[in-house]
Amino acid sequence: MKKLKVLLDEETIAKRVRELGEQITRDYADAEHLVVVPIMKGSFLFAADLIRQIDRELSVEFLGLRSYGAGTETSGVVQITYDLTQSVTHQHVLVVEDIVDTGLSMRYLLENLGTRQPRSLKLCSLLHKPARTRVKVPIDYLGFTIDDHFVVGYGLDYAEKFRNLPYIGVIEN
Ligand code: IMP
Ligand code: MG
Repeated sequence: MKKLKVLLDEETIAKRVRELGEQITRDYADAEHLVVVPIMKGSFLFAADLIRQIDRELSVEFLGLRSYGAGTETSGVVQITYDLTQSVTHQHVLVVEDIVDTGLSMRYLLENLGTRQPRSLKLCSLLHKPARTRVKVPIDYLGFTIDDHFVVGYGLDYAEKFRNLPYIGVIEN
């Protein structure tokens, strides 16, 4: 079993998720309806907590992405593994991601969703690792900026493990 160091504890995450939910609630005051798009699998816990803090009419449409790469590095080749089940044309769309690392996945996805002509398209990411940026993507709602560590927990995995941790931790070797 690998050793983990806590980077963001449960309370810190919950407080920030509440703040993001309040901000989103305010910003979409004039929107009749919001389509929240959690990116699988990493954002499923974050999205589950976040939508309960958004006091607006909304629906949830999952989207699966895979970025090919060995270990903890992305190659930049991105594939949609599970697509939306409803059209988002003329809808307000809020993508919910776990972490923006190189930015390659979100650049690909935002471009792809943009072609479907949503009424608006924004990105909410729990984490951002600016040290690793390869392409800049605008993050409209950001939970935390973190240093260049590989993090796990609260939905994020290493080789599909650790998603169940209630906190975000760094694997120590
Ligand atoms: P990108 O490099 O911005 O395209 O990020 C691709 C994906 O890699 C993210 O959506 C995460 O699912 C995953 N990822 C990037 N950094 C980490 C990390 O530190 N822990 C766990 N998953 C990560
Ligand atoms: Mg992801």
